[in-house]
Amino acid sequence: PTIYAITPTYARPVQKAELTRLANTFVSVPNFHWIIVEDAAERSELVSSLLEKSGLKYTQLNEPTPREDKLKPSDPNWLKPRGVLQRNKGLSWLRKNVDANRTDGVVYFADDDNVYDLELFKEMRSTKKVSVWPVGFAGYLRYERPIVKRGKVVGWFTYWKPERQFAIDMAGFAVNLKLFFDHPWAEFSRVNRGQMESYLLSSLGVTLNDLEPKADDCTKVLVWHTRTEAPNLTNEKKLKAAGKSGTDLNVEV
Ligand code: UGA
Ligand code: MN
Repeated sequence: PTIYAITPTYARPVQKAELTRLANTFVSVPNFHWIIVEDAAERSELVSSLLEKSGLKYTQLNEPTPREDKLKPSDPNWLKPRGVLQRNKGLSWLRKNVDANRTDGVVYFADDDNVYDLELFKEMRSTKKVSVWPVGFAGYLRYERPIVKRGKVVGWFTYWKPERQFAIDMAGFAVNLKLFFDHPWAEFSRVNRGQMESYLLSSLGVTLNDLEPKADDCTKVLVWHTRTEAPNLTNEKKLKAAGKSGTDLNVEV
């Protein structure tokens, strides 16, 4: 099967660095198709040239988040859901452009700031319905993970909101492509904090009993929910205040 990774991304100082790290990982994954969806009114030159240069098989899309749904720089990151419309755009592209009767596929939602072990892609490739595994640093713990008994998922190891139906981060599961065709209206929604993953999985008709535990019965961490610190650029202003020119905006960072 082909692995289709859907990645929402948005313009910010570290965007190119994040996408470079991802591209460097994904080039080592066989039979891989990167669906990158920019949270922007138009596709950007920065992202197109990065994709072109990567040698990856890719699709570049865009879908802007309406202004009122966007986080402000002063907002805590959890205040509003992120990446919702972009992931849905990726799903509708798959439904329109891939024939699930002819193509075996596995869909993974790969946010642009996480770190992915190559082993993870070997694990998810055999997904029959939905596979699951631990995620490092999720839920304000060293890791969150599914609890596995005799090869079946029976619950969730978590502290944060244990009442979640699927107490799992976006990075902790993959879905067989067919499921999106069997449930043609299933998509993400701007639900309460922490409920986005559960909302999608329940709209795909998934139950606990369907889940396929990977990564040695969920004992190995193969993906990390890292978050990149915004770089401190305060000296840009100070240069200008001192009557000097700032860094050259023709130099892409
Ligand atoms: C956590 C989860 O890991 C995300 O999958 C989930 O979307 C998010 O919470 C949420 O509740 O909305 P977190 O690290 O807090 O993730 O979120 P980000 O990594 O900042 O954003 C998730 C994805 O959306 C990233 O790929 C990011 O590039 C993208 N994004 C973020 C946008 O496309 N637009 C934005 O304005 C912000
Ligand atoms: Mn993130």
